[in-house]
Amino acid sequence: MFAGIASRYDLLNHLLSGHVDKRWRRLVARKLRENINATGARILDVACGTGDLSLTLSESIGARVVGTDFCHPMLEIAARKTANRERDIPFVEGDALRLPFLDCSFEAVTIAFGLRNLSDVEAGLAELRRVIKPGGYVAVLEFSKPVVPGFRSLFNVYFTRVLPFVGGLISGSRIAYQYLPDSVARFPDQKELRSLMLKVGLESVDYENLTGGVAALHMGRRPK
Ligand SMILES: C[S@@+](CC[C@H](N)C(=O)[O-])C[C@H]1O[C@@H](n2cnc3c(N)ncnc32)[C@H](O)[C@@H]1O
Repeated sequence: MFAGIASRYDLLNHLLSGHVDKRWRRLVARKLRENINATGARILDVACGTGDLSLTLSESIGARVVGTDFCHPMLEIAARKTANRERDIPFVEGDALRLPFLDCSFEAVTIAFGLRNLSDVEAGLAELRRVIKPGGYVAVLEFSKPVVPGFRSLFNVYFTRVLPFVGGLISGSRIAYQYLPDSVARFPDQKELRSLMLKVGLESVDYENLTGGVAALHMGRRPK
């Protein structure tokens, strides 16, 4: 599904979110900078897709970023976008449920709009925890459940009707853009995701609602 929409993925992300997605990714970088010594830190961006978060992490906080995703066409776009930049970002093909990295390899791991797509969310979180060093952070940026009642109903009309229509028209895949609201509906809400992160052995897990809970940024730490 992601291979089929790769060429239009960035355009639709920015169009359908009114460019808010960029602000959300910048927030991930800022939060990590507040919690780890980010300059030179090794950060793994899982399900990196076309590499927007990898780029933000590399350029705005000077981290040494590695991106990974199992969809080759998405990674090809990521590699093209990051070619000739000051910092090299290696992109490695790999499954988030069996990451091709040793235990305790990174100061932080990020996953943006990727966790929801895994067949086993809890196993995915445990795999993210495995590759970070003790004391390191996991940051999960994901669509969530809007928390403001009036706004929630309005947003739901947009998300379940307008977005699949426009996304389908521009990408040529109505299925992919119908999958988006359907998968968000099935995904744990803010509190449930926090509980899952605690369950896999992360500590100090907290979250911030973004744009009224349309998305949420969860952060948790691997105990030292
Ligand atoms: C919605 S995109 C998000 C891309 C990027 N992180 C972003 O912020 O735009 C979801 C990505 O998850 C990837 N993905 C889904 N399941 C995966 C898995 N099991 N292992 C690795 N990547 C996966 C897809 O290939 C796709 O690139």
